[in-house]
Amino acid sequence: MGQSFKQRINLKLQANTNGASTLTLNRRQLVKSSLASIGLATLSACRFNLSKAEPTSGNEAPQYDYILTAEPSPLEILPGKTTPGLGFNGQFPAPVIRAQQGKAIRILFVNNLSQATTIHWHGIRIDIKMDGVPFLSQAPVQPGETFLYEFVCPDAGTFWYHPHMHSVEQLGKGLVGALIVDEAEAPEFDADLVIGLKDWRLDKQGQFLPLSIPRHAARAGTLGTVESVNGEQRPTLLAPAGGLVRLRFLNMDSSRVYHLSLKDLDAHIIAIDGSPVAKPRPLVTHDMGAGMRLDVAIRLTKEVGQDIVIYDKKGRGYFELCRLQTEAPKQALLNTELRALAPNPLPSLKLEEAQHLRFEFEWAGALSPVGHDGKVDQTFWTINRRAWAGMHSGTLPAPLAVVPLGKTIVMELHNATPHGHPIHMHGIIFTVLSSDKRTIDPFQTDTVLLERNERATIAFVADNPGRWMFHCHVIEHMKTGLMGYITIA
Ligand code: C2O
Ligand code: CU
Ligand code: CU
Repeated sequence: MGQSFKQRINLKLQANTNGASTLTLNRRQLVKSSLASIGLATLSACRFNLSKAEPTSGNEAPQYDYILTAEPSPLEILPGKTTPGLGFNGQFPAPVIRAQQGKAIRILFVNNLSQATTIHWHGIRIDIKMDGVPFLSQAPVQPGETFLYEFVCPDAGTFWYHPHMHSVEQLGKGLVGALIVDEAEAPEFDADLVIGLKDWRLDKQGQFLPLSIPRHAARAGTLGTVESVNGEQRPTLLAPAGGLVRLRFLNMDSSRVYHLSLKDLDAHIIAIDGSPVAKPRPLVTHDMGAGMRLDVAIRLTKEVGQDIVIYDKKGRGYFELCRLQTEAPKQALLNTELRALAPNPLPSLKLEEAQHLRFEFEWAGALSPVGHDGKVDQTFWTINRRAWAGMHSGTLPAPLAVVPLGKTIVMELHNATPHGHPIHMHGIIFTVLSSDKRTIDPFQTDTVLLERNERATIAFVADNPGRWMFHCHVIEHMKTGLMGYITIA
C-alpha cells in the first residue's frame, strides 16, 4: 500500500458533449470487476455531475479526483478462502485517497451495494453538505445511484473514510479506507507507509460470523476473530534502511482498541488523529480506539534485512501486528532530522469567554424498554440520558446542544460506564485539555478515548456551521444509543 500503487488507470471522460473540457480521473489500484460494474448508466450520471461541478472550462485536469465504488467484493482475508465482503472498487485494502491540503478534491461515489449508504470523511473539517451523514447532511445514496463529494481539506494529515449507514455491516464487511491529506509543504521522509488495522469476524472458512452480539454490544463491542494489517495477517512491509520513515496507523476496526508499541525502539509520535503535535513525543504505548489514527516517525537502522516489529501491547504481553524490514534504499536518503509537522490552521481558543457544556455517557442496558412492537429496543447507552439508536428514518431527534457560530466551547465529558469509548465529533477538531485519569499535554484530535469512569475536558471553536454528529466510534455503541448531534448555528 502507501505509495506503491499497483496500477494507475486514467479514465478520460468528456465533461460535456462539445468536448470543451476534458476531465481526467485517476483510478488507483483499480480492479477489473469495478470497471465492469460501472455501467453505462453510471457513466452518464457521472458525466452529468461532473459537467455541473466543473468550475472552469479549459483542459487542465484536476490532480486528485477519484471514482469510488462500493460493491459486493469477494475478498481473500484468510489465505485460500473467499470471504463475501464489501469493498471500495472491489478491493481490500480500499484505494488510498490522497488529497492536497487547502485544495478541493472531487470523488464520484457510486453505490453498487444492495443497500443505501453515504460516505463520511472522518476528521476533515468539511462543509456540512459533504459530511456524509444520512438525514443530517444528505439524503441516503440509494443502490445504483451516484453522489459527487467535492470538498476542500483545510488540514493535512491521516484521515479515513467509511459509510455512515448500516455501519455494523458495511464497515464490518470491509468498507473502510485511508484518506491522506498531503501537507502544502511536504515534510521530508524517506518513506511514508499506511498501516491500516482492521479485524474480521470470520469462521475458519472465511464466512462472516454474526457481526454484532447484543451482550457484547452492551459491553466493549463484538470483537473480530481474524486480525489484519492492510488486509493480511502479520505482513512484512519493506522500508529503506537508514531512512526516516513516517508510519500512518489507522484503527479502522469497529470495536477494538490497539495499544501500539515498538517496545524500546526510538520512535516518535508526530501526529495524533491527523493533528500534528507541537513537539514530537516519544512513543511508549499509545492507545488507539476505533476510528483513531497515529503518525509515528522512526529512523531505521542502516543495516539491510533487519526487522522492526510493531506490537499491540496487552497487559504485559506484546503481540506482533506487523513488521518493517529494511531494504537497500531505492533512492538517495534525504538525511533530514526529525522535525515537528507544521500545525494545521485551527482557530485559537478563547477559553475566558467560552460556553461550557457537560456530557454524561451512561450505560442503560438495564433500562432497555420494550418497543411498541413488543421487541426489545436495543438501547444500551445514553448521552445526557438520551439515546438515539436509529438512523433509518427521516425523523431527527433534537440536537444534544445548539451552540453559537464562532464561540469557544468547553465540554466536560464523563464516561460513567465500565467500558472505554472513543468519542468522536464531526466537522471540527477539538483540543483535549485535561483528564482526571492522566496528565494531558494538550493535543488536538477528532476522537478522544475515554477509559471507564474518566472525566476529560475538551475545547473547540464552533466555527463550522451545521449539524455535527457526536458519537462513540465503537460502531455497536453508536448504533445502540451512544450517538447524537450538536448544532452550530
Ligand atoms: Cu468515523 Cu461519525 O465517524
Ligand atoms: Cu467523523
Ligand atoms: Cu462506546
